[in-house]
Parts: sequence; C-alpha cells; structure tokens
Amino acid sequence: MTTLNRLDLEALWMPFTANRQFKQAPRLLARAQGMEYFTPEGRRVLDGVAGLWCVNAGHGREEITAAVTRQLATMDYAPQFQMGHPPGFALATELAALMPAGLDRVFFTNSGSESVDTALKIAIAYHRCRGDGARTRLIGRERGYHGVGFGGISVGGIVANRRMWSANLIPGVDHLRHTHDLARNAYSRGQPTHGAELADDLERLVALHDASTIAAVIVEPIAGSTGVLLPPQGYLERLRAICDAHGILLIFDEVITGFGRTGAPFAAQEFAVTPDMITMAKGLTNGCVPMGAVAVKQSIHDAFMQGPPGAIELFHGYTYSAHPLACAAGLATLDIYRREGLLTRAKTLAKRWEDAVHGLRGRPHVIDTRNYGLIAGIELEPRPGKPGARAFDVFLDCFERGLLIRTTGDTIALSPPLIIEPAHIEEMFGRLAEALARVA
Ligand SMILES: Cc1ncc(COP(=O)(O)O)c(C=O)c1O
Repeated sequence: MTTLNRLDLEALWMPFTANRQFKQAPRLLARAQGMEYFTPEGRRVLDGVAGLWCVNAGHGREEITAAVTRQLATMDYAPQFQMGHPPGFALATELAALMPAGLDRVFFTNSGSESVDTALKIAIAYHRCRGDGARTRLIGRERGYHGVGFGGISVGGIVANRRMWSANLIPGVDHLRHTHDLARNAYSRGQPTHGAELADDLERLVALHDASTIAAVIVEPIAGSTGVLLPPQGYLERLRAICDAHGILLIFDEVITGFGRTGAPFAAQEFAVTPDMITMAKGLTNGCVPMGAVAVKQSIHDAFMQGPPGAIELFHGYTYSAHPLACAAGLATLDIYRREGLLTRAKTLAKRWEDAVHGLRGRPHVIDTRNYGLIAGIELEPRPGKPGARAFDVFLDCFERGLLIRTTGDTIALSPPLIIEPAHIEEMFGRLAEALARVA
C-alpha cells in the first residue's frame, strides 16, 4: 500500500471525487479500528464521519467479522428469486421489530440509491394495485439527496447531480422548497423554530397538479448531503397531515438518519411522525457489506397480495437482494446495537455534543452551527466566487492533522461512530477549531 505510484492510481475512476486533483496528492486510508483510521504510513486519523455515515458501531467489530466469515464458509451465495434462506428471513424479522409500529414488511436492496428507487416504484405500483393508477406523480424537495439512480436524482434537489441528465429525469416530478433558513434559524440547537409553514408547499402542489395524480412525497427527515438541514418544529407533522388528507404516501429516506444517529433507532420515532415507507442502508450492516432495505407498511404490502396465487406480485428485485453475507453482517450489527444500547446512545451524548458544536460559534469563517443527536453542521462563509473552496481546505487541513470530516459546499458535516467517547468529542472540536484558525 505504501508504494502506490501515479500509474497505480490511473485505472480507478473515483466516485464524487475531483479525480485529477486527488491523484496529484492522494489521501489514502489503509486500516481502521474503533474510532480511528490509519493511513498506509500508520498515521492515526480520528473518524468524525463514521466512514460515510455508516460505521455506527465503530470499525473492526470482531463479531461482525466472525459472522460474515462463518456465513461465507457455510453458504456464499443463494438466489432470492423464487428461493429463500434463513438469514434473509431472520434479518427482515429483526428489522421489522425495530421499525415504527406498522412498518413491518421489508424489501432488501444493496444501497441507499436502490432503496429509494425501490420505494418510488412500490409507491406508484401500490396505487395502481388499488385501481388508482393515475397517481404517478412524485414529489421531492429542493436540496434533497436520494442517491444517484434516475428516480433518486429526479426527486432529489441537487443541481450538480441533475444538470447532465436534465432531459432524462423521470417525468411527473415536482419539488417542495427546502427548509434551510439562516436568516431566521441560524445557530439553532436541535430543531429550528421557524419554517413549519414550508410544508404547506405540498398543498400548493396539490392545488396545481391535483391530489389524484400524486403518488408519494419523499424527504429526508434530516437532509445530510446538502449540509445538515434540520426539520423545523412542526414541519414533518404538517407534511404527514397533508399527505393523509390527500391519500398521498409519505416516504422518509433514512439512509443517514437510521440506526441510532438521532438518538432513536429511526428519525421517524425520534420525531414521532410515522411515514408509510422508510428507506435505509449504511448503518444496516455497519457499512461493512453493501446492503439497503425498504420498510413498508403492511397495508401497502398487502395491496400487492390480491392477485391469483402463483402470480409474482412485484416485478422488482436484485441478484443480491438479501445477500447471505450482508444478512449475516446485518444480524451481527443489530445484535451489537442492541447489546451496547447504540440505537439510543446519541441521546445520552447529545447535550455534550451540542455544546461542543456551538462552541465553534464566533470562530473564523463560521456563519452557523447546528446539531441533532450525533450530527453536526458547521456552515462557513464561502470565499467570494469560490463556493466550497474554504470548507475543502479545512477538510484537507484536518486530514493532515489526523481528523476525518466531510464537507459539502461550505458546510462541514460531522456524524461520528455512535461509540464515540467524550474525549473524542473534545479532540474533534479542538482540531476543527485549530483548522478554522489556520485556513484563510
Ligand atoms: C438520504 C440518502 N439517500 C440515499 C443515499 C444513497 O445511498 P447510496 O450511496 O448507498 O446509494 C444517501 C447517501 O448518502 C443518502 O444520504
């Protein structure tokens, strides 16, 4: 690993990366344990982002390694089409028990993107199964991120992810306005006070398109990828009420908020708003084997179960749906979460975390700090004409000095493994404060 040269780097086209810049000065990770990564040279890097919001139980968990190894030796792969295997059923049953009441049917995928496209397809097909086939329209939200499938980028609201494919986005999609409002809500602790009325955008879209054409609304309870955007108090409740009033399904994309990030197993429980479907991935296997899932209300599932017995009810699925290794990883991961109380641990640390996040107020370049559970957003003043450049320099500085953060635009996002200890919190924010002072 230490001897990688320029040529060794050429073949890999890296995702969401400035490839040419990266290959001039590569940043490599070679090993991970607990709260830490190590570079090929053995330099320690504190993990402030749980890899990419996924390693919630911390790195290198031996129980997961053992479970996956055992499964690999027992049965490496088995098809799911018209066949089944015990770990798939076992994981679905355990997941269903973690979900908000009623969301107890589970469809497995391999990623967040696939979960989103699966949920959108189920929503449209559900209405059709009930004889309401005109409900095909999907509503997303500005600044939403729902992965990179054509469905996901269509309901998503990030222009860079859509621009190249603007003529190919799926038709019949509209967007709510986003809820980020620095003028009214800067430096909020937890949910911001202002903005519940933004949910009324859905009423506006109903008035424009008619409810009878709308299948579903999809939102992230907390939007991560465009810089940690929190739901204003009352917003999600209002969205739920408007969906109910018009027969529209509500989908929560919990790819990053699932598995304890907010202080409850899922944000739906934390915010006490129950959607009709939840998409998830990442923390499901502690990030170590790719896997996603969609949890669906039983009534939605049952609407598909009306045809003649012997007929396939949903023409959808993946070769690797419920892959045995992913199921083994998922079962071992859920077991750790349960035994160590990790799905609610963020709540016990939230106050200390919040104080540390807001301790950055007044530091150079900082124009907002915001937090929820074990999530932080630290927004910086952009350099004139160079959006994102300042935050990226902070990212580079932190990495050089042993802290992995994530930046999106000019916002720094933090989402550490849920095993984090107070000393790590101190170290993380200490380093970040130093980096902010160093970067111009
Ligand atoms: C809310 C949300 N949805 C979907 C995705 C896509 O997940 P994946 O990269 O596993 O396809 C992400 C990824 O970060 C996400 O944050």
